[in-house]
Amino acid sequence: MIVALNNKCNLTKEEFIPYQKELEEIKTSAKLIWCASNIYLGMMNNSNLAIGAQNVNSKNSGAYTGEISAEQLKSLNVKYCIVGHSERREYQHESNEEINNKIKQLLKEDIIPILCVGEQKKDRDNHQEEQIITTEVLEAIKDLSEEEKNKIIIAYEPIWAIGTGLIPTTEEITKIIDVIKNLLPSNKVLYGGSANENNVEELKKVSNIDGYLLGGISLKPEKLKIFLKKLEK
Ligand code: PGA
Repeated sequence: MIVALNNKCNLTKEEFIPYQKELEEIKTSAKLIWCASNIYLGMMNNSNLAIGAQNVNSKNSGAYTGEISAEQLKSLNVKYCIVGHSERREYQHESNEEINNKIKQLLKEDIIPILCVGEQKKDRDNHQEEQIITTEVLEAIKDLSEEEKNKIIIAYEPIWAIGTGLIPTTEEITKIIDVIKNLLPSNKVLYGGSANENNVEELKKVSNIDGYLLGGISLKPEKLKIFLKKLEK
């Protein structure tokens, strides 16, 4: 099982140091991928967790003020990077084309993209979730070779479930993961969106799931430990 932690834009340096210590002490058979804020990536070099970033520049290194390139991430030992998170699609107006370019940059540097896809509440109400997810996946993997496509991890994150405490039914998650696996049969698919220590037992019933992308509880090591323990039972 893969458990990716998305810290989002959280933790001051004073908070980060004790948090890092707690996180590194966690024992689990799950593969933990820790996506901290970019400013801390250079402090995570001795981490026994796989290091992930939350974003990357869609172009090479160069005159792009404020951006961080895949080449730079690689030099900090970053092995994974979230792309296309719905918060970036919404607030930074990231398009599928830009996400496709980011994925290409990451693959060039041997960094595994964690591609987030998901529908809004209104899309689900209109029964358009499968169509939305299919378009997001296909546009993100445009022009990639089979070998490149196979490297990507997909995270199914319904937008209406992120940070809301709501989750889809296990049947609904299973169905969307099947849609993704029909497009990319050998890729790992995670679920994200209000996954926590209280609903993990329910989520475990999703038989085709390869792991989770955790936001809120990634910041609370005590709850995370409970989540991981229940996952292993
Ligand atoms: P959440 O966030 O677990 O707080 O809902 C998940 C995510 O946005 O990746």
